[in-house]
Amino acid sequence: MISLNIEKTFGFISKENVFAYEAQVKAAQEMLENGTGKGNDFLGWLHLPSSITPEHLADLKATAQVLRDNCEVVVVAGIGGSYLGARAVIEALSNSFAWLQDKKDGPVILYAGHNIGEDYLYELTEYLKDKKFGVINISKSGTTTETALAFRLLKKQCEDQRGKEMAQKVIVAITDAKKGAARVTADKEGYKSFIIPDNVGGRFSVLTPVGLLPIAVAGFDIEKLVAGAAAMEKACGIDVPFAENPAAIYAATRNELYKSGKKIEILVNFNPKLHYVSEWWKQLYGESEGKENKGIFPAAVDFSTDLHSMGQWIQEGERTIYETVISVEHPNHSLQVPSDEANLDGLNFLAGKRVDEVNKMAELGTQLAHVDGGVPNIRISIPALDETSIGGLLYFFEKACGISGYILGVNPFNQPGVEAYKKNMFALLDKPGYEEESKAIRARL
Ligand code: PA5
Repeated sequence: MISLNIEKTFGFISKENVFAYEAQVKAAQEMLENGTGKGNDFLGWLHLPSSITPEHLADLKATAQVLRDNCEVVVVAGIGGSYLGARAVIEALSNSFAWLQDKKDGPVILYAGHNIGEDYLYELTEYLKDKKFGVINISKSGTTTETALAFRLLKKQCEDQRGKEMAQKVIVAITDAKKGAARVTADKEGYKSFIIPDNVGGRFSVLTPVGLLPIAVAGFDIEKLVAGAAAMEKACGIDVPFAENPAAIYAATRNELYKSGKKIEILVNFNPKLHYVSEWWKQLYGESEGKENKGIFPAAVDFSTDLHSMGQWIQEGERTIYETVISVEHPNHSLQVPSDEANLDGLNFLAGKRVDEVNKMAELGTQLAHVDGGVPNIRISIPALDETSIGGLLYFFEKACGISGYILGVNPFNQPGVEAYKKNMFALLDKPGYEEESKAIRARL
């Protein structure tokens, strides 16, 4: 279970003002529960953890096993909500050097369809040339250009390399039940497929097959992940009193900080494995709240790495920021600083200490320095990097995001702004159906 500490925001905002959000939070939670708020056709994530059935998990695990048995590499093709959740969990739980090791415990997971980099795709296809690989093609709309383009390349390569029959076995689609090119292809080619429920938006879809299948293929325990999320669903439920409800307190605190002029939230970790949790979080909050010319700007840093690049700005730059630190209580391994007789590096004062003790002092020292420098600090602590804790953390952020968006007064479940670049890109690429837009955009060049 996570523990949330907002004490270090109280020099900047008052506890009283945070607790004054109680009624607004309650109203937001009722809107979520009763489906009376904006975007109410996208609330399928709200009670998802507690409604996932053992049969569904068994189906996912059986499909994951087919990919594990038949592939050295599995490429997850997807963008935004269709890949960040899976990557966040997989990277948080994986050995940092797993894919460099000769003896691998299951397929290497790689990612595509989240950029249009020609070199990236060339190098990926080159790497895959002598590999037994499979593909999980993930797209809710089934028409996202980045993903469709990568999948076109990967599908052909997989069929050419492994034969049509094996390709059919090791390509899995996760998409809409009926519409979109990914659905048409999956049905026509006879791929195993999973449905992304209509009422779950991309950035809230990590606990659907979008996240669960790649995570299972990577060898992690999706039952524990879902159980962690289900426990958090309970801990953040509408009946839990405000003061004891972490999602309520986090949503209220960030809105009060925003009101006080803190326009940027920096998600901080002291563990490099959490980098993609931050990427997932940035999308969750950025796409949910950044609209109608308002919303906290979600940024992220990896400490202590970025203390040597962004640390200066955070310590002394414009005072419009606050930090939310994800702290991992216990590392999964133990490593002590050795003693050295010569002590040439002068580090014997650390001899015998765990590396994590040094890291924790970096964390505490940074917190105190940044608070002294005018940066309010929220601290979220999780017991360990394991499936249960990560499942809980993800659901906590989702629930707080729904509440926070409603407090802000926006529809947290749409993303109209994402369409603008697509329209221009299609016009510039002469996509059929965009003739008028093509003419108009060319006139501007
Ligand atoms: O959260 C969202 O809705 C988006 O980020 C989508 O997940 C992203 O644009 C990918 O869309 P799709 O799954 O339709 O390919």
